[in-house]
Amino acid sequence: MTTLITGVSGHLGSLILDHARARVPAGELVAATRHPERVGDLGVEVRPGDFAGDLSRTFEGVDKLLLVSADGPDDARIAMQRAAVRAAADAGVRHVLYTSVFEADTSPLSLAAAHRATEEAIRGTGVAFTFLRNGMYHENYLAPGPLVTAAGDGRIASASRDDLALAAAIALTEPGHENTVHELTGPRAWSFDELAALRGATHTAVTPAERVAGLKGFGLPDFVAELLTDIEVNIGRGALAEVRPDLEKLIGRAPTTIEDAARGR
Ligand SMILES: NC(=O)c1ccc[n+]([C@@H]2O[C@H](COP(=O)([O-])OP(=O)(O)OC[C@H]3O[C@@H](n4cnc5c(N)ncnc54)[C@H](OP(=O)(O)O)[C@@H]3O)[C@@H](O)[C@H]2O)c1
Repeated sequence: MTTLITGVSGHLGSLILDHARARVPAGELVAATRHPERVGDLGVEVRPGDFAGDLSRTFEGVDKLLLVSADGPDDARIAMQRAAVRAAADAGVRHVLYTSVFEADTSPLSLAAAHRATEEAIRGTGVAFTFLRNGMYHENYLAPGPLVTAAGDGRIASASRDDLALAAAIALTEPGHENTVHELTGPRAWSFDELAALRGATHTAVTPAERVAGLKGFGLPDFVAELLTDIEVNIGRGALAEVRPDLEKLIGRAPTTIEDAARGR
């Protein structure tokens, strides 16, 4: 059984690989990245894996594939993720696991469109699928300094990136996850006022237009400023507030709380 994980130079991909290495022999694992030269010796075979490039060799001999979603503007992301799915199916991969977004099929978040398109592409191949529909990471909200958001008093059930990586590694290395969807959230929905109080910081609620302008003022590309603001607006509307049991079931323990993440535990 050969199992390949993409995106291993990224935060999530490298954590998934770490957890997978602890669960199966290294000889059964292959890592892929756009930057093999950057990752050094991972203790497993490393292959070039750029979804926007030539993938004809990347998935050779692979039975199970964990596709870490790429970043970038929607059009490019959808095109390259579809290409990756096609290349995997052409290479004879039998099971594709994909890191999607919470409630991808119905989510109002603008970023969900690329995840929906990728899930549809995977289903369209007829290979077994597992959708790891990740909520937002705690880590997105733990940078030091005052909090400024367009989320108002909305609540979010974020999860630790490492718990999400562990869940992915378990679904990847244990049998029984074919044709399943996991909605992965943290254990509690918190508000930005609560997080500010926890961190001894302030939370200023601004309008979406003010937030986009502020993020652009930090030098973020327009599409990133708009995407981050869209997430916050949807947090304000409750789109990420629901707590689901799936993460706890997968990892076999209570997921890390925002409080523990903020304290670095
Ligand atoms: N749930 C959340 O809060 C949240 C937050 C941010 C992002 N995300 C999504 O989750 C993914 C993983 O998060 P992260 O924290 O690991 O982000 P990250 O550290 O910024 O990593 C970006 C990831 O995208 C991959 N990637 C980008 N372009 C690619 C391409 N052309 N071909 C193949 N892979 C490509 C990278 O792979 P290599 O560099 O190894 O090639 C890397 O794994 C992100 O890419 C994004 O889709 C989720």
